[in-house]
Amino acid sequence: MLVRDEGQGMTEIQVGLGERSYPIRIEKGCLATLGEDLVRRQVANRFAVITDDRVAGLYGQAVLANLRKAGLQSDLLVFRHGEASKNLETIASLASRLAASGYDRKDGLIALGGGVVGDITGFLASIYMRGIPFIQVPTTLLAQVDSSVGGKTGVDIPEGKNLVGTFYQPKSVHIDPAVLSTLDRTDLLCGLAEVIKYGVIRDPAFFNFLERRRAGILALDSADVGEMIRTCCTIKADVVEQDEREGGLRRILNYGHTIGHAVEAASSFAISHGAAVAIGMVAAARIAVAKGMLEKQEGERIFSLIANYGLPVAVPEGLDRNLIKTYLKTDKKAVAGRIFYILPTAIGSTCITDQITDQQLDQVL
Ligand code: GLY
Repeated sequence: MLVRDEGQGMTEIQVGLGERSYPIRIEKGCLATLGEDLVRRQVANRFAVITDDRVAGLYGQAVLANLRKAGLQSDLLVFRHGEASKNLETIASLASRLAASGYDRKDGLIALGGGVVGDITGFLASIYMRGIPFIQVPTTLLAQVDSSVGGKTGVDIPEGKNLVGTFYQPKSVHIDPAVLSTLDRTDLLCGLAEVIKYGVIRDPAFFNFLERRRAGILALDSADVGEMIRTCCTIKADVVEQDEREGGLRRILNYGHTIGHAVEAASSFAISHGAAVAIGMVAAARIAVAKGMLEKQEGERIFSLIANYGLPVAVPEGLDRNLIKTYLKTDKKAVAGRIFYILPTAIGSTCITDQITDQQLDQVL
């Protein structure tokens, strides 16, 4: 992985994956230079910009105009926002629209939006004409620090979330922190849960930074937010380079997600992904303390950081604990019925274990 500070607040992180390597460009205002960048890099002859109806209203026309100004013939393909659209019907409908407009292997897709848009567009790019190039332009914090990097794509089926998908890397990722100004508070918090995750699993200095710079980050101070996104993308790129297909190390990115996913599902998705991950991270830290694997003081720092950012730290009173446990058992990452938990062993380090007793689980739920 190569991190280049190009001055004037612009950073480029090269994700080193052999012939699938690609740059992550982080720069305030870079949405306005997307067309030039793509022309210079000769990624594709023309692009279909895929987005949802919310993001289309905010940035769709500006991106389209920018691409056309740079000489790239482009179309805007819009679907209804929300996880309910992340299915095979949306993929089929978008594929038909591409085919009807004559899109071929020399053309590309641009994912303009949050995690749902990125997952749908990446998946479609990986199967349309057996694979065409795609570009990630993430517009939520969660997508900027997590889902746009690393090549996981996919859609949901009635049997579960993300059960159909591929590993398919983008040709580049373009992150414009300025777009976070239009993000609502819930979506910002959702992303912050994943941000905190990186500090706990990999980087004590970053954890410290998140403790010190909370006010600046919550106020979207440019310097703080830029530093935060750069660090998260650097950590994610490093992990993905070492384990692109989640055979081992990449599993640490699931810290907080094992219990988190079960909480999210047990609430019928009324609890947002970020809030559920926050609850899951605190629960995993408390289990680690109870097992004597994590110093109590370190556990308290994790708890306080999450709480201080305004994220929940406990499973809500009314939520059925047994239902959470049922969902835990059907976790798609369980192997032969064994449920694996990522537990922090210090701030910056983790271990993975399936040695959690029912009693330990009950205590944190
Ligand atoms: N969001 C977890 C991963 O990309 O592996």
